[in-house]
Amino acid sequence: MFAVMAARFNPGDPLSALELGEHAEPIPPDGWTTVTVKAASLNHHDVWTLRGVGISADLLPMILGCDAAGVDEDGNEVVVHGVVADPGRAPDGDETLDPSRSLLSERYAGTFAQKVAVPRRNLIAKPPALSFADAACLPTAYLSAYKMLFDKSGLAPGSTILVQGAGGGVATALILLGRAAGYRIWVTSRSEAKRERALSLGADQAFPFGARLPERVDAVMETVGEATWAHSVKSLRPGGRIVIAGATSGAMPAAELVRIYFLQLSVVGSTMGTRDQLARLVRFCELTGVRPVIDRALPLHEARAGFAAMISGELFGKVVFTVL
Ligand SMILES: NC(=O)c1ccc[n+]([C@@H]2O[C@H](COP(=O)([O-])OP(=O)(O)OC[C@H]3O[C@@H](n4cnc5c(N)ncnc54)[C@H](OP(=O)(O)O)[C@@H]3O)[C@@H](O)[C@H]2O)c1
Repeated sequence: MFAVMAARFNPGDPLSALELGEHAEPIPPDGWTTVTVKAASLNHHDVWTLRGVGISADLLPMILGCDAAGVDEDGNEVVVHGVVADPGRAPDGDETLDPSRSLLSERYAGTFAQKVAVPRRNLIAKPPALSFADAACLPTAYLSAYKMLFDKSGLAPGSTILVQGAGGGVATALILLGRAAGYRIWVTSRSEAKRERALSLGADQAFPFGARLPERVDAVMETVGEATWAHSVKSLRPGGRIVIAGATSGAMPAAELVRIYFLQLSVVGSTMGTRDQLARLVRFCELTGVRPVIDRALPLHEARAGFAAMISGELFGKVVFTVL
């Protein structure tokens, strides 16, 4: 079958590690099933894999892709939860806390292919109201945003939330979900055009990176990392919270320890979400009419152009790959 793979690692030139071509079809083990992929979406995770982060070389070539929507073996339309975990080993029923959990494309072949094998329990019914392209955006970026806002932030609607880096897949999800749920969403972006687009999506105010805000916020949603960390810490009210789920621009900023203890701030890590949270997110989109922002949809065999746009930071929202 046709697939998009990491053939090697290249930390400085991830595109050179990308290969498109033939790969054997997956053979599902016991308890797993095969999904015929109709659409899959690109995440920064796929770029990290090409750079060699989060995967070992003996698993190459690895089919990329963490999330997909498609058709199961019985002909049902499904959304694929990308976290492979043993619920029996998960504290409090949260499979993202299973120490041996992985994401599709880390240990098991990913979704950028005509078929993907997944644990049966990872399938969620796709409602007819969501297209395959819409549904394919939900399992990683939108699920992460859902958990950051509605679980990890600990904040009620009406609170003010700063989203760093407005144009990203997770960031646009935070704007849309947060707005629909009644939070006041402020954003930053390096790009004026992206700040304008964020306002048109429902962000209340938009600022350049590092700008002084009109008032301190209740929480910051951080996925940019080094480029925005100091600003995130400075922007919080006393007792405020940073929810961090990514560090695209670098993972080693100055920690700002004094500010953190003196203002009694908290820093909370967040990774993906549970299968039940994904099911609730699907229903949230169905009920509210929220649909993912898709920057572009490309046939899977044109995946290289999508990766290039993500690496150069040109995107606003998600890249979707469609599969025939
Ligand atoms: N923990 C988890 O479960 C989880 C889940 C999803 C994603 N993530 C992580 O979250 C991050 C964002 O993922 P994504 O898929 O949303 O990526 P993406 O679509 O490629 O977005 C990239 C983001 O980085 C921002 N950015 C700002 N300055 C940057 C700089 N100097 N260099 C690079 N990027 C810069 C962009 O903001 P502007 O262009 O608006 O300035 C944009 O928000 C990634 O690091 C990813 O690995 C983690």
